Amino acid sequence: MKKTNRPVWQYDELKINSTIDYTMAAEAARYEERHGTVRKIEAENRNILERLETLIPGGLAKARILEIGTGTGAFARTAAPKCAWVTALDAAEAMLAVAKEKAAPLGLQNLEWVHAGFLTFDFPENAYDAVVTSLALHHLPDVWKGEALVNIRRTLKPGGVLILVDVTFPWDCGEMAKCEPVFLDKIASEDMKRPFIGHISKEYSTFSWIMAALIEHAGMKLLERSKFSTVAEIFVARK
Ligand SMILES: C[S@@+](CC[C@H](N)C(=O)[O-])C[C@H]1O[C@@H](n2cnc3c(N)ncnc32)[C@H](O)[C@@H]1O
Repeated sequence: MKKTNRPVWQYDELKINSTIDYTMAAEAARYEERHGTVRKIEAENRNILERLETLIPGGLAKARILEIGTGTGAFARTAAPKCAWVTALDAAEAMLAVAKEKAAPLGLQNLEWVHAGFLTFDFPENAYDAVVTSLALHHLPDVWKGEALVNIRRTLKPGGVLILVDVTFPWDCGEMAKCEPVFLDKIASEDMKRPFIGHISKEYSTFSWIMAALIEHAGMKLLERSKFSTVAEIFVARK
């Protein structure tokens, strides 16, 4: 499944640009506890699944879903009992190890874990009814987000749905100081605020209007862009 012949010019996504080192087992182990201080992860996942139930022609029960940047697998293990098939992939083996451990007691037979990334996954064309990705695409610079979105469109069935949740900046050039009132002032936990400052200053979150344009340029129709959580927006698109 994994593309092993990455061209020399392609962004090396397996060397993840992140303030939190997701390749470290200790960081992977405390990921959900840390994020739980600013996010309602279960409610987010229910929200995404309810949207998919309505958006996927034929509903969730027969759907094949690809989740990219699954992290510790919270969405994938919630989705699998409601869907026909879930493929969950991540660029960090340490995160996948925690995901597998958390899912094991559930005995899910329709859930596979894959070590790969947005650019390097190589599933067949028209294979999935939906692609879901949460808080992961910002690890790629904008050019490579565009390439990733084309890879997503390729593997979606015609009419298939993309749900993309990520930290994006809903303002214009020259207005980055708005990140203080809009994001930082709303994060009470120091344990989360410090990495979030790193996120804004060093990672590749982009303007909301750039994300919307990238989705359209990658050949999908943007159906919705709205606020999703304290730190993220949701983009819903169809192939
Ligand atoms: C902030 S976590 C998000 C995890 C989960 N989706 C969530 O919403 O909590 C970001 C995840 O994206 C993964 N990641 C980073 N770059 C990636 C890439 N190019 N392809 C796939 N996964 C990537 C990281 O290893 C990490 O597990």
